[in-house]
Amino acid sequence: MATIKKKALIIGAGTGGYPCAIRLGQLGVDAMLVEKDKPGGVCLNWGCIPSKALISATKLYHKAQHVGEMGLSFSGAAVDMKKMQAWKAGIVKKLTGGVQMLVKGNGTQYVTGTAEFIGPKKVKITYADGKPEDIVEAEHVVIATGSVPIAIPGFVIDQKRVVDSTGALELDHVPKRMVCIGGGIIGLELGQTFQRLGTKLIVLEGLGRILNGVDAECAEVVAKQIKRDGGEIYTGAKAVGWEDRGGVAVVKAEIGGKIQEIEADVILVAVGRRPVTQGLKIENSGVKVGERGFIAVDERQQTNVPGIYAVGDVVGQPMLAHKASHEGEVVAEVIAGRKAINDARQIPNVVFTEPEIASTGMTAEEAEKAGHKVNVGKFPFAASGRAMAIGETAGFVKVITDAANNRVLGIHIVGPEASDLIAEGSLAIEMGAFAEDISLTIHAHPTLSEALMEASKHALGEAVHVMNTRKPAH
Ligand code: NAI
Repeated sequence: MATIKKKALIIGAGTGGYPCAIRLGQLGVDAMLVEKDKPGGVCLNWGCIPSKALISATKLYHKAQHVGEMGLSFSGAAVDMKKMQAWKAGIVKKLTGGVQMLVKGNGTQYVTGTAEFIGPKKVKITYADGKPEDIVEAEHVVIATGSVPIAIPGFVIDQKRVVDSTGALELDHVPKRMVCIGGGIIGLELGQTFQRLGTKLIVLEGLGRILNGVDAECAEVVAKQIKRDGGEIYTGAKAVGWEDRGGVAVVKAEIGGKIQEIEADVILVAVGRRPVTQGLKIENSGVKVGERGFIAVDERQQTNVPGIYAVGDVVGQPMLAHKASHEGEVVAEVIAGRKAINDARQIPNVVFTEPEIASTGMTAEEAEKAGHKVNVGKFPFAASGRAMAIGETAGFVKVITDAANNRVLGIHIVGPEASDLIAEGSLAIEMGAFAEDISLTIHAHPTLSEALMEASKHALGEAVHVMNTRKPAH
């Protein structure tokens, strides 16, 4: 067992840890990145990337069957799930290989092994290839260990009939019926993926509506699409268990105080994720772990122990890859001795449902609660020439402004390419933009992005392509 001295040690090569490692290398800091599994973490291997690959493929398949109105019809459409999975695996392999190359290329050491604290800044590394263990003594340690799915009683994950997101992303067949426990982001993104391939989707959501936390009107557009595609959504529904009845999985759920039975071929459990601090012997580090397992950090991402930082899912909501990366890069700057803090004004949230939902800043309700009198500007994609031309008119852009000065407080989009359109909203909020900044910016015609300009004009009572609902601001 050798002792290695490093300026920085990063534990976890997910979207929080690896950008931190790359940036530390660029800043000339002698650093080591340790990962027990594959580089890229959940996002690249079992989350964002593989899901988006399956989502885009199934969207294409679904859309091709719904363009009769355009004068197009295709016969012989078929799904080869095994081939789709192989294509998806190829994308993941390319990206994860790229991560390792970038870390090493920027001068940070990459090792595959399990890290355990044996002191505040002393970490034992057990290598995956059986090499003798090492002790790393580092001036700075970054905990970037991510999160794992939450389990619920009565549903043991076997990744065949009862799957979590990892299992759902690996299915090599299209199930006839899928019961999705949890009407959150993962449940709906993956549920709709299979629904587009012909699976009957049944969503069981414990709360009063799906996509809790997302603008309610946006969520309603997705709920309608799920039902239009033959799916069922039960709210106030709590799954309590399941049993095998002659090869059929029968899910028992308490809906409206009564136990109902629902037949399924695959049960997807997507009821949230919890932070990973177990297995790390974190108690030996002195770092305080909160009640729900999250690690509290300050604006420099530093924990209660000076020199130990935490980034990504392990520090709390929102559990988003881009938030983790930003935090990782902030920490690298801090370790390198630069004056850096995490002062992000907004974190965009994107849900890759059909249609997509993307938002930044506050909802109207949140803004009112925060003491603002708000104006809401709205533009429906049904009034967008471009949306009509691509045959995707469901949804709208909603711009929330402060009625006192027209400052943009929030933007919520449900509709085609919402995931990309939100970038303009993110920049607007980060720059402290006013509705006029968006409405007076010339947007290319005919594009979907015009909807942001139109919604901003609408918030000002100056819309040109929809009827105004308030007196002009100017
Ligand atoms: P979630 O928190 O989005 O949704 C879980 C849902 O399950 C909640 O609505 C909750 O009320 C419900 N629920 C909990 N227990 C239940 C029960 N026993 N019966 C019925 N319903 C129950 O969690 P999800 O979908 O698992 O996603 C986890 C995290 O992963 C999210 O918080 C998100 O940050 C991240 N993620 C982000 C994506 C993106 O940015 N596009 C994609 C996928 C995941």
